[in-house]
Amino acid sequence: MPGPGDSPIRRREDFLVFGAPAIEEAEIEEVVATLRSGWLGTGPRVARFEQAFAEYKGAQSAAAVNSCTAALHLALLALDLEPGDEVITTALTFCATVNAIIHAGAKPVLADVDPATMNLDPVDVRRRITPRTRALMPVHFAGRPCDMDALLAIAGQHGLRVVEDCAHAIETEYRGRKAGTFGDFGCFSFYVTKNVATGEGGMLLARREEDLARAKVLGLHGMSKDAWKRFGDEGYKHYQVVDAGFKYNMMDLQAAIGIHQLERVEANWRRREAIWKRYDESLRGLPLGLPAGPEAGTRHAHHLYTLLVDERAAGIGRDAFLDAMTAHNIGVGVHYLAIPEHPYYRETFGWRPEDYPNAMRIGRQTVSIPLSPKLSEKDVADVVAAVTRTLERGR
Ligand SMILES: Cc1ncc(COP(=O)(O)O)c(C=O)c1O
Repeated sequence: MPGPGDSPIRRREDFLVFGAPAIEEAEIEEVVATLRSGWLGTGPRVARFEQAFAEYKGAQSAAAVNSCTAALHLALLALDLEPGDEVITTALTFCATVNAIIHAGAKPVLADVDPATMNLDPVDVRRRITPRTRALMPVHFAGRPCDMDALLAIAGQHGLRVVEDCAHAIETEYRGRKAGTFGDFGCFSFYVTKNVATGEGGMLLARREEDLARAKVLGLHGMSKDAWKRFGDEGYKHYQVVDAGFKYNMMDLQAAIGIHQLERVEANWRRREAIWKRYDESLRGLPLGLPAGPEAGTRHAHHLYTLLVDERAAGIGRDAFLDAMTAHNIGVGVHYLAIPEHPYYRETFGWRPEDYPNAMRIGRQTVSIPLSPKLSEKDVADVVAAVTRTLERGR
């Protein structure tokens, strides 16, 4: 915390918002054109965005939805899980990953993470398999690919389906293959802080076209294929309800932003990679844990730059560190408190943080610092200065 007489690194009116998206004129113009077109809901721009995303991922097709949470829910519903079926996921993830399993009527089972990669530890996954295990749900944490060779080997041995939570992993690759194309489904997020932002939004990839078609129907009330076209210029189309579905469709207004965000996905990745390297160089030597470098043969999406603040080394606890950064007018995040720290899961499933020691420790020490492609050189220097100053005060 800046002490008395200490001035914050940035002024209050220049507060550096964590994860602010880099929105440019092209998005603004496309949104205005969408508004003027009179077609705000699901329509031609969503179709364009789906096609562009599928091409970027080298997939045959993609289905746009209104969040990654929706994508995860639809993917799991399409697996036709039965009550009591178990789905194994990581203890270090956003609550949406676990909630999707619950809402699909299955039982979530957590496995611990590897302390360096912060991704699902395949050894612990193996330990958690029971005769009721039906699926694995790896999360490519911070944009770093999971050990897909090991996880797919486990899935193959036990006949498990795989749903990849790619909320952080649009640009991620593992041994030349793109994240979201390993599993039965890949689920992506375009939430405001994500690498491609549409405000709210998500995308589904599926290995089998019929699975994607089923998820699409479930995502639009369970109405028969292409029901969104019913008010189009081809004349009114009747639809049939073939399932009890949900309202998870993306709007053209969101796709208008996404189309142009996706055009800059690689340029933005390069900018974040440069910031990442700058943080690595500038923060090395401070009493902090820095993220591990990318593994050979992989591409990290550089979605989050996570520090580990161990009070014994840093002289300041994680929560005090968060407060100090905020007092310097730098926005920070926590990704994430381990899932068993939350009361609902503890009370419902009897989970205890100590049973997932790596996720517990990381969750209690982690701090994400800004990594948006929007950051200027001065912004990055301010973040470094604020981290350095915060640790000096901790000594
Ligand atoms: C790992 C992970 N999974 C799922 C989600 C849910 O994404 P959305 O906000 O698009 O529903 C998030 C979003 O923060 C996430 O970080």
